Amino acid sequence: NEGKKDVIVINRRSFFGGLMAVGSLGMGALLSVPVLRYILYPLYAKASGTEWSDVGAVSEFAGSTQPVRKTITFAQRDGWREVVSAQSVYVHPSGDGTFKVLSAICPHLGCSVSWQQGQDEFVCPCHGGRFAPDGKHISGPPPRGMDPLPTRVNNGKLQVHFEFFRSNVSNQEKLS
Ligand code: FES
Repeated sequence: NEGKKDVIVINRRSFFGGLMAVGSLGMGALLSVPVLRYILYPLYAKASGTEWSDVGAVSEFAGSTQPVRKTITFAQRDGWREVVSAQSVYVHPSGDGTFKVLSAICPHLGCSVSWQQGQDEFVCPCHGGRFAPDGKHISGPPPRGMDPLPTRVNNGKLQVHFEFFRSNVSNQEKLS
């Protein structure tokens, strides 16, 4: 069998036809990924179960009389991969040595709420939702107050467990 070669004859038309078929299959598969992710997102998007994020040293917030904005990071699993997310939170000193940590995500439609020092309240830039320093709803379309997050103190550090909640409903419903 010396010199034996496999000779494949490709008819131009069927070659391109095949290429087109493979191409459209590939496109279909590619397109279905974002669609599937969109459908399954609420099922898979969650901060991984036991993770605590450092907010800062307790001493940093002990003397503050106003909510303090901090950016925290945490690993988030969306079913296919793990990504590190950053989110803003506000630390509200309760006055008795404990702290409330509030998510800066507006419970109306998810814009980022910001603290207005002169007005002594939180204001959402999107539809004018307003909240008291402890996150209670004052006025505007948000159906509930800002979402408090689970906290703990570990080795002198304030830590938070970040969670996402369903928007535009009156009860705090965790998305998990
Ligand atoms: Fe905040 Fe609408 S998203 S008031």
